[in-house]
Amino acid sequence: MALARTRAVALVGVSGHLVDVEAAITSGTPGLHLVGLPDTALSEARDRVRAAIMHSGEEWPVRHTTVALGPAGLPKAGAGFDVAIAVAILAAAGELPLADCADLVMLGELGLDGRIRPVPGVLPCVLGAAEAGCRTVVVPRANQGEAELVPDVKVIAVGSLRALLCHLRHEPPPLEPDEPVELPAPPKDRSSARSRRGSLDLADVRGQAEARRALEVSAAGGHHLFLLGPPGCGKTMLAERLPTLLPPLDRRMALEVTAVHSIAGALPPDRPLIEHAPFQAPHHSATKSAIIGGGSGRQVHPGVISLAHNGILFIDEAPEYTGGILDSLRQPMESGEVCIDRSGVSTRFPAMFTLVMAANPCPCAAAKVLQCRCTPSVRARYLAKISGPLLDRVDLKLELSPATRAELRYDLENAESSRTVAARVQDARDRALARMSDLPWRSNSEIPGPELRRRFPVSPEALAPLERALQEGSLSARGMDRALRTERAEK
Ligand SMILES: Nc1ncnc2c1ncn2[C@@H]1O[C@H](COP(=O)(O)OP(=O)(O)OP(=O)(O)O)[C@@H](O)[C@H]1O
Ligand SMILES: [Mg+2]
Ligand SMILES: [Zn+2]
Repeated sequence: MALARTRAVALVGVSGHLVDVEAAITSGTPGLHLVGLPDTALSEARDRVRAAIMHSGEEWPVRHTTVALGPAGLPKAGAGFDVAIAVAILAAAGELPLADCADLVMLGELGLDGRIRPVPGVLPCVLGAAEAGCRTVVVPRANQGEAELVPDVKVIAVGSLRALLCHLRHEPPPLEPDEPVELPAPPKDRSSARSRRGSLDLADVRGQAEARRALEVSAAGGHHLFLLGPPGCGKTMLAERLPTLLPPLDRRMALEVTAVHSIAGALPPDRPLIEHAPFQAPHHSATKSAIIGGGSGRQVHPGVISLAHNGILFIDEAPEYTGGILDSLRQPMESGEVCIDRSGVSTRFPAMFTLVMAANPCPCAAAKVLQCRCTPSVRARYLAKISGPLLDRVDLKLELSPATRAELRYDLENAESSRTVAARVQDARDRALARMSDLPWRSNSEIPGPELRRRFPVSPEALAPLERALQEGSLSARGMDRALRTERAEK
């Protein structure tokens, strides 16, 4: 019996776990058997691997071949195991040096013609391999950029199985150039603002001094924000400019964000590392699975709220969202991650976002209160779609009036640029960081309520109005924590 082993990586949520890919060639009925709880995609791997091996000019072993992916209990999904399976088979057949393959980690999907196609999630896979002590990974050429973000790992990027086999045999690479491999088109950019970020500036917003201040406080402390106001008063405009006030992500946060986008297949190939806080604005017609995350079987994909991790989730026209989507935001807002249960497996994705919600006060969307034809009960029902418990988690709630004509025309001195405000935000963050240097939280909004009260006591005079509101029932205990936390951002 001939036995060979190589390695691949399975993703569970955003963490990569090493998978041993073992091939054994024994006497018995010819055929390829895959074992190790593979999903449908993995059984399809059989046909792809066979075609790719033959198309690469290699001999297909006409013997009883068994390939096992272990540990068996680890959920494995996707087509990223093809390359490891093909190499293990060829090594077991004696076509490749055994020792050289055993320590390599290989990621990639095979095309029938032997091309190596890119796969989602290469960055978290390589991170996982590195953490498990692996030093060399083979990745599809189109994923080279993101794989190379991981320090202390040697990346071998290949475009075809033939090129990989030459490398493993220490032969010169094949003469014909590898076919260019197209990255699967990233899903349509859900954020209209991301591509336009360069041209957006807070100075475009005239008047709205209070809202501008609220944006600044939100940016400084990561506070959730709710903007209520008539159509055309600038809610969308303001929200889209929040990213321009945020400092660039630090390395750790950038890698976290990039890992999620990599799994979602939403990574721009030219810029592998996402260094800016993401801004995600899902439309209210988007499905719950698209927004929260989901999928079928074991193939779970992160939702928009995870793509907004370490950035901003903008829920425009909030009352228009249906199907309990708004209330599904509550749990991630509390824990900073989302847990998705599918086929008995629960998958966690990070989802620590700043929520910005915008709403009109009523469904008729009249520009002026006087023009509104809605009855009081219709108005109440409309806003009640944003539940109390959700609003309770929002630190900054603002009612906007339209900027006056005078403001729109002349209010230029008030119109500070994003650059000026971003500098103050950076300052505030630096101060918060210094204040919390020996604490495990990064911003005010992350401090749990009891800790907040214990570590940063507030004077009784300052507390008095809040306590009155608490007694009257117009403020909840969580609301009180929110107020205290926001107050810290002002310091
Ligand atoms: N304060 C302002 N300063 C400058 N322009 C403004 C301001 N408010 C509104 N505008 C202009 O009005 C347009 C509409 O603003 P925006 O889309 O942000 O309103 P909105 O509050 O989101 O309205 P809706 O409820 O209809 O979505 C903007 O594109 C901008 O041209
Ligand atoms: Mg709007
Ligand atoms: Zn109305």
